[in-house]
Amino acid sequence: MKNVKFFLIIVLALVVCIGKVGAQINNITPAPVRFIGGACNKNYCTPASPFDYSQLTKLYIEGGDSVDAERIEAAIKAVGFDLKRTKRPSKSGDIRVYINPDSMSFDEGYALVTAENCVLITARTSAGAFYAIQTMRQLIESGEWLTGAIADYPRFDYRGILIDISRHHRSVEFLKRQIDMMARLKMNRLHLHLTDAAGWRIEVESYPRLTEYAAWRKGATWKEWWSRDNRDYAEMGSEGAYGGYLTKEDAKELVRYAADRYITIIPEIEMPGHSAEVVAAYPELACSHKPEQQEDLCIGKETTFEMMQAILDEIIEVFPSEYIHIGGDEATKKSWTECEDCQRRMREEGLESVDELQSYMIHRIEEYLNARGRQIIGWDEILEGGLAPNATVMSWRGEEGGRAAAAAGHKVVMSPHAYCYIDAPQDAPPTQPEAIGGYLPLEKVYSYDPTPKDMPEEVSQYILGVQGNLWAEFIPTDEHYEMMLWPRAIAIAEVGWSQPNEKEYAHFRSRATDIVERMMKEGYHPFDLKSEIGERPESLQPIKHLARGKAVTYNLPSRYYAPQYGAAGDATLTDGLRGTWTYADGRWQGFLGRGGVDVTIDMGEVTHIESISADFMQYCGPGVFMPCLVEIAISEDGEHYTKIANIEHEVVVEDVPSFKSFGWSGSAEARYIRYKAHRSKFSGFLFIDEVVVK
Ligand code: ACM
Ligand code: ZN
Repeated sequence: MKNVKFFLIIVLALVVCIGKVGAQINNITPAPVRFIGGACNKNYCTPASPFDYSQLTKLYIEGGDSVDAERIEAAIKAVGFDLKRTKRPSKSGDIRVYINPDSMSFDEGYALVTAENCVLITARTSAGAFYAIQTMRQLIESGEWLTGAIADYPRFDYRGILIDISRHHRSVEFLKRQIDMMARLKMNRLHLHLTDAAGWRIEVESYPRLTEYAAWRKGATWKEWWSRDNRDYAEMGSEGAYGGYLTKEDAKELVRYAADRYITIIPEIEMPGHSAEVVAAYPELACSHKPEQQEDLCIGKETTFEMMQAILDEIIEVFPSEYIHIGGDEATKKSWTECEDCQRRMREEGLESVDELQSYMIHRIEEYLNARGRQIIGWDEILEGGLAPNATVMSWRGEEGGRAAAAAGHKVVMSPHAYCYIDAPQDAPPTQPEAIGGYLPLEKVYSYDPTPKDMPEEVSQYILGVQGNLWAEFIPTDEHYEMMLWPRAIAIAEVGWSQPNEKEYAHFRSRATDIVERMMKEGYHPFDLKSEIGERPESLQPIKHLARGKAVTYNLPSRYYAPQYGAAGDATLTDGLRGTWTYADGRWQGFLGRGGVDVTIDMGEVTHIESISADFMQYCGPGVFMPCLVEIAISEDGEHYTKIANIEHEVVVEDVPSFKSFGWSGSAEARYIRYKAHRSKFSGFLFIDEVVVK
């Protein structure tokens, strides 16, 4: 106890010194709450000096239990110290770890003090001590370890990543490698998306067809399989069967491995939607008994509950997490309206809608899990039809669901699509492998704030934290997976840990660049930030051109541009603003009709012009295609037009997005310019951002 008091006095003295001496420390990620350079006492602080860690020879641990001690020792070994444990603190050259529940109020907080010849770590829990060691590791790796003190604690309790192993199965080794990196960044939740149409990935002894059949599909890549009319499954071991699953032993090993690094694995068992593989393996769970016609479970049948409960019994035996994720998202709810069993359930339970029917199921599952000491967490659709009383919500479609749940006193994990869906390309989409669409660079992920200043305290108090989601539809390999995950998961780590006043993007980016470099040396495959192009260059500055601000007439009848992609309305094509990498940015205008684009620009007076051009984008996945023909005509009077360009283009389906300019250059006099872009044989959108006239 004497030592603890001694330690606390030092920390107190350091805190008193804040403001007197400051030393910038550059290489701790997530950014810590406070670093004070130098050795301090009550009255003064000496400047920070480099710390010589080679003198550390002993390890003293006080407090905690034997598991804590083993984890601490292993963590210190992982930093590169092979230290002898001592029963007493030695006079010099040691690392002293004090786990003391009275030392601070933050469960995962720590203080790390490096005096001249020893390192003192104090924390309320062993998790905090583990995080102090991660900080130490980063200081050593960056060669920046100075004498001084770091006081640190997380902003949020929940700092998570979702890894989807349904769409493409991943090995235990792969998952361990990601856990290692997460732990180094002080993340503490790994949400495993274990079940979805593309494959069931966890052994369940009572329902063996889930792993004998539903875990295997005909189609190595999700895309190949998904694009088939018949998305069929396969018997394990049959020719061309692709997939796999975690055995219970695999999962237990992962749970242990993660727990040793203070990461809780949260298993997700999807219900009642996203369950096509379950229905395929056990057709009696489909409303129609025709599994190929539905991906939702039948809620009318008791067999559905028997099965889900039996599965959950086995899941909770393997995963000790407080939370069991039960999915709840994107059920089609179609078959329930025609199913006798579902309709009977609705009558008997007085349920007025299919939303209420889903809510009935979630309530029942919650009761079942609560009775076994667990809590449910589900996607924000579980709000529809009435939220189960103790449910925690993972808000993905935006923040609205999360805010509404929090306002009603439910806990929430924020994971809004626009900031946290790291399955979108992270750099200029034409330079990236095929992805789900959109564009989500590191900076945007980093800018996310789960509890912004405008969020009322009665809401923000329920926000547990943040999670980045890596869905794997387009990610078949480990290398690709790591590239999508890192460095954006580093940004999620800092969003979850660091205080808003410690966040600064330029500083973060420089730290993230160093981490990426280190990861590459260690054999990881992160996206190399040094090669980042960033936002579409054309969109960065407004463009000056002759047609800017001029009136545009849309020549086609009603609904010439799609209402949801109207951008700035009739002003869009001459507002001087070029589109970004994404079509939903309010700058690209989307045309869905057969006629394509047909507009006339009135220059106001006859004008000398030398070029006319407009850009289009192609994203085949979401149905955005290039035009097959562009025609440009000019006129002085608005009645008699001369065609000056007829540009044909062969539209071909490609995996990666592309951007292309269609234009004319020459010399002409005109007041009116008619620009027509024809849709190709592919039905979908044409997107155009500006008609540039020079
Ligand atoms: C989700 O992205 N459907 C949760
Ligand atoms: Zn039914």
